[in-house]
Formats: sequence, C-alpha cells, structure tokens
Amino acid sequence: MDAFGTLVAGIAALNVCGLFVSTFAERRSSKAQTTSETDTTRTQAHTNSPAERLHFVRAWLRSPLTVAAIAPSSRALARLITSEISASTIPVIELGPGTGSFTRALLARGVEEKDLALVEFGKSFAYALSASFPKANTLCMDAAAINTVKLFDGRPAGAVVSGLPLLSMPKPQVEAILRAAFGKLTPTGAFYQFTYGPGCPVPRTVLDRVGLEAERIGGTFINIPPATVYRLRRVQLAA
Ligand SMILES: C[S@@+](CC[C@H](N)C(=O)[O-])C[C@H]1O[C@@H](n2cnc3c(N)ncnc32)[C@H](O)[C@@H]1O
Repeated sequence: MDAFGTLVAGIAALNVCGLFVSTFAERRSSKAQTTSETDTTRTQAHTNSPAERLHFVRAWLRSPLTVAAIAPSSRALARLITSEISASTIPVIELGPGTGSFTRALLARGVEEKDLALVEFGKSFAYALSASFPKANTLCMDAAAINTVKLFDGRPAGAVVSGLPLLSMPKPQVEAILRAAFGKLTPTGAFYQFTYGPGCPVPRTVLDRVGLEAERIGGTFINIPPATVYRLRRVQLAA
C-alpha cells in the first residue's frame, strides 16, 4: 500500500472508531439530559441513526474535503449551536445540513419546517433532507451562491446556522459565503458556526473586510472531535 492508501485507510479506521465513540457519547448524553431537563427539546430528542452515520461516512469517502468531518455532529453540539434560536428568530437558513443533526435541533427549538431553508452541496444529502423534511426548502447548491436565490418569499432570515467546513476552505470562499449569508439576514441577524479548531474559523482579515465580529458562545466535548461554536454579527451590533 502506498503512502496515500495508508493515509486513507488510517482516516477510514478513525472514522469507524469515531462512529462507535460518538454513538456511545450521544447515548450517555441523551440519558443525562433526559433525567435533568424539562424543555421541549427533550421530547423531540433524536440521535443520529446508524443509517445516517453510514450515509455520512460514504459521503466523506466520496468527498473528504467537502464533508470534512468523521461523523455527523452530536446532539450536544446541535443543542449548543441552536441555543439562541427560537420561534422569534425565524426564518432560519441552515448551511451544510448533511444528515440533518442541526435541522432536527432547530425543529426542537420551535422552528417550523416551512421556515427553514436547507442549503446543501452534496446531492445525496440534499435528496435525503428533502425526503425527511418535505416542508422545508431544500436547495442543492453552493452556499456562496445563496444571494442568487429568493428565499422565504423575500423575507430576511433571523439566523444562519452553519455546519460548513470553513476551516478547510480558502479565504475568498469563506468571504463569499459570509457576504451571501449576511445579505439574506435581518440587520440584527446572527450567523452561528461550529469549529473543531482552537479559535474562530473565520480569519480576522475576512471578519474585518465583511464588517463582522465573532464571539465564542460555548463548547462541547460530547462530539467527535470536541467542538466550539461562534456567533458572528455585524460589527455595530456586537459593540
Ligand atoms: C462537517 S459536515 C456537517 C454536516 C452536519 N451539519 C453535521 O453537523 O453533522 C459539512 C457539510 O457541509 C456541506 N458543504 C460543504 N461545502 C458546502 C458548500 N460550499 N455549500 C453547501 N454545503 C456545503 C457538506 O456536503 C456537508 O454536508
């Protein structure tokens, strides 16, 4: 086996381990939350199914840089990234929903399917999303082009929740995505992004050029790998 084959096999093995560990972690977190929480998300709890995990791994094998994660996000991360979303932040745009971990958390927060636009580049993910969430508007396209489509009959969105792998994207692409997303938001709207990295996944130069401020809103170890969530807003609002 050559060096590339060894690398792919190694990452695939990590994926399989990740699936087992994340399933175990999600089950534990699910149990803990069921005994300690009373909010509406408890009744709508949903961990990633084995079929969704398999779908994720297959998509990753086909396109490792676009999927850029070893497993779907955990329920803990989905709860964290949607923690500031409520029925008053509708409509909501989700970028890179994959198998729908964050989509289900958004529904559990009181957002109705009809108030969701799901923007997903991967065809098989987009197909499965439109089957699972038939009343949501699923768009199979590049998130950087959302400024070219009309969403919610022209109403601006209250929030963007992003599962996009910004860390593995070149700066111009990150900037294009942020400009397109903020063009669809209300003046007070926020963009929520998770990252596996140590800091904000949007470089300072890009934040400055687009006129944004980033704030870390929390982190969780119950995810493979552990993740942090940032809120991006227009500079004048963050002051
Ligand atoms: C790290 S996965 C996250 C999936 C899901 N949100 C989760 O947390 O489990 C990244 C997702 O973003 C999608 N994606 C990557 N680049 C994209 C782009 N330019 N436009 C739209 N979706 C994209 C991938 O297909 C994949 O579903």
